Amino acid sequence: MKERLLVGLDLGSSSVRVAIGQLTFSNDQRSVLNIIGVTEIPSCGISKGCISSLEDVVSSVSGALEQSERLVGVPIQEAYVGIGGTHINSKEAKGVIGVSRPDGDIRAEDVARALESARAFINPANQEILHVLPREFSVDGQGGIKDPIGMQGIRLEAEVQVIQGLLSHIRNITKAVFRTGLDIAELVYAPLAAAESVTQPRQRELGVCVLIIGSTTTGMAVYEDGELLYASTLPIGADHITSDIAIGLRISLDVAENIKRSHGHSIPSEVDSRDQIDLKDFGADQGEIVSLQYVSEIIEARVEELYEKVEEELKKIDRSGMLPAGVVLTGGGAKLPGMVELGKRILHLPCSVGYANVQTSMPELALDPTFSTSVGLVLWGHEAERQSEVNIRRSWSDGKNKGGRFFSKISNPVKRVFKSFIP
Ligand SMILES: Nc1ncnc2c1ncn2[C@@H]1O[C@H](COP(=O)(O)OP(=O)(O)OP(=O)(O)O)[C@@H](O)[C@H]1O
Ligand SMILES: [Mg+2]
Repeated sequence: MKERLLVGLDLGSSSVRVAIGQLTFSNDQRSVLNIIGVTEIPSCGISKGCISSLEDVVSSVSGALEQSERLVGVPIQEAYVGIGGTHINSKEAKGVIGVSRPDGDIRAEDVARALESARAFINPANQEILHVLPREFSVDGQGGIKDPIGMQGIRLEAEVQVIQGLLSHIRNITKAVFRTGLDIAELVYAPLAAAESVTQPRQRELGVCVLIIGSTTTGMAVYEDGELLYASTLPIGADHITSDIAIGLRISLDVAENIKRSHGHSIPSEVDSRDQIDLKDFGADQGEIVSLQYVSEIIEARVEELYEKVEEELKKIDRSGMLPAGVVLTGGGAKLPGMVELGKRILHLPCSVGYANVQTSMPELALDPTFSTSVGLVLWGHEAERQSEVNIRRSWSDGKNKGGRFFSKISNPVKRVFKSFIP
C-alpha cells in the first residue's frame, strides 16, 4: 500500500482554509481518498478575492500551512489553490483545427490543439486564463459530441467555456503563495472546486446552480449536461448582512456578527414576534432591547437582494426557474437559517444546503459548508491526477480519450507561467 497527500488551499476573504486528503493506493493501483485534516485561520490582506497586502497574505498562508503540517506531521510542498473574486469571469469561445492525421483519425493531440486555438481566440492582454473547459465538440459540422477521440473527420471544432481573471490580481496571488515556499499544482476558480464537493455528477447532468456564499462575494457556477455552462462572482456576501445589522441597530460589527450567528434568520415570519434580545448580552456597550423579528427583516432585505442578483444572472443564460436539480447553497452564508426557504421562494427552484460528499476522519469539520471549497480542491486535484494518468495510459495504447479536466489541466498556463516566480 502506498500513500500520498493531496492538499487544497482556499484563499478566502475571511479565512484561509486548508484541506488535506490522503490518497491510499492498493496493489491494483486503485486509489482511495480520505480527508484526514482541515485547518482554518483568519485571513488578512485579501478582500473580494484580491490582494490588498502581499505581506499579510504571505503570513496568513504560512500560518495555515504550519498548522496543517503540525496536524499531519509532514511538510506540505504543493497544493491546489482556490481563488475567487469579481474580476474573474467566464466567456464562451470556439476553437477550430484541421485533424492532423492523413487517415482522419482524431487523437488527443488534436483535441488539445482545438482547445489551444479557443484560448488564442479569447486571450486579451490584461487577462489570465485559468480554465478552458470543453462543452462540446463538432466533427465536420456534426455537433453534440462529448468525446471526439477515435472518431473520423477533417475539421474539429471545440465549444468551450473559458474562465479568466485579471492578470495582475492572479500574479499577486501566485506571488504570495510562492513566497511561502509552496508550489501551486493548479490555480482553480473556487466555485468550480466547491461544486466538485457539493454536487453529484447526476445533478450536474440535469442542470444545477451552485452558490458559494462567502464573506464578501458569492460565487456562482451553473452546470448542464455535465459541463459548466456559466460562472460568475457577485459582489455581495454574508458580511454585508453583518454590516446591515450593525447600521440598523447602531452597534459594532463584532456585536452584529454575534447576533447574526446566534439569532439570525432570513425569514421574519418564522421568528416569534415576542422574541427579543438585549444588545448588552452580545457585547454592546449599552443595553437595549431589540426585537428578533426586526433583525430578521434587516437580514431578509439583503438576502433578497442577493437572490435577485442570482435570478438576473440565471435570466442572462435563459435558465431562470429551469434547472431541474435546483440550487445548492454552500459557503459560510449558507449556514444562516432560512436561506433555503427564501431561495426557493425567489428563485422558483428546489434549494438545499450542500455538504461535501467525501470520506473523512473529521466529519464535523470537513462537512461544514465553509470547508466545501478547500475539500473540493482536494477532489479536483484527485480527479485531475486520475484523468491525466488515464490519458497517459490511453495515449500509449492509442485508445479512446476523455475530454474535460485533463485538457483544462494540460492547457492551464498558470503553473507554467508562474513557475518563474519561484525564487
Ligand atoms: N453559523 C453562521 N451563521 C451565519 N453566518 C455565518 C455562520 N458562519 C459563518 N457565517 C458567515 O459566513 C461568512 C464567511 O463565509 P466563508 O468563510 O465561506 O467566506 P470566505 O471564503 O472567507 O470569503 P470569500 O469566499 O468571500 O472570499 C461570514 O460573513 C460569516 O459571518
Ligand atoms: Mg470562500
